[in-house]
Amino acid sequence: MKHRLDIIIGSTRPGRAGPIFGGWLEGFAREHGKFEPVLTDIAAFGLPMLDEPHHPRLRKYQNDHTKAWSKAIDAADAFVFVAPEYNYFVAPAIVNAIDYLLHEWRYKPAAIFSYGGVSGGLRAAQALKPLLTSVGVMPIPEGVALPAYATLLDQDRAYHPSEQVLGGARTMLDELFRWSGALKTLRAGLASE
Ligand SMILES: Cc1cc2nc3c(=O)[nH]c(=O)nc-3n(C[C@H](O)[C@H](O)[C@H](O)COP(=O)(O)O)c2cc1C
Repeated sequence: MKHRLDIIIGSTRPGRAGPIFGGWLEGFAREHGKFEPVLTDIAAFGLPMLDEPHHPRLRKYQNDHTKAWSKAIDAADAFVFVAPEYNYFVAPAIVNAIDYLLHEWRYKPAAIFSYGGVSGGLRAAQALKPLLTSVGVMPIPEGVALPAYATLLDQDRAYHPSEQVLGGARTMLDELFRWSGALKTLRAGLASE
């Protein structure tokens, strides 16, 4: 069975670029062939600033939006975060969405597809990694960073990747699949402990 890859779109504002890259990556991952890609758009879950009364380790969720978010992340085997850079940092919607859950994230690998101006979102990508480790996600070193991303879009805002990006995205998914297999085995072992 293919591993489920959740491609998490991390921006929520009107007119955002996130869905352009998320949509492209979904098609690319499908062609890559090792994953069953699922577009997981944080905006579609309508998560307010964390509004659960209990710590997520208890899984005593009160709100439908949390239950839906929990179900989506629980079903995933691996993640790619499609991450913009805001003020040299991680977009707040990503931080908030991570904070909502705990067990659903654990022992799963993640890669980061970042985009931005001169930095290609790399500062946000690096800042995201320690947060991921704190909920038990393994951030892998391979990723994609798109500097001056707006110059890569055509007049219809369609994205046409360079050969270099295609190679980087392929390596990212190859490596993510290795980790995904290893951690799937680990989770199965934990479940039978
Ligand atoms: C609040 C805010 C802060 C930003 N800060 C940065 C930044 O630190 N570095 C950067 O490269 N781009 C920055 N940008 C520009 C974003 O790269 C650009 O707006 C991009 O489209 C954001 O992704 P989104 O369209 O998916 O929201 C910022 C944009 C916003 C809205």
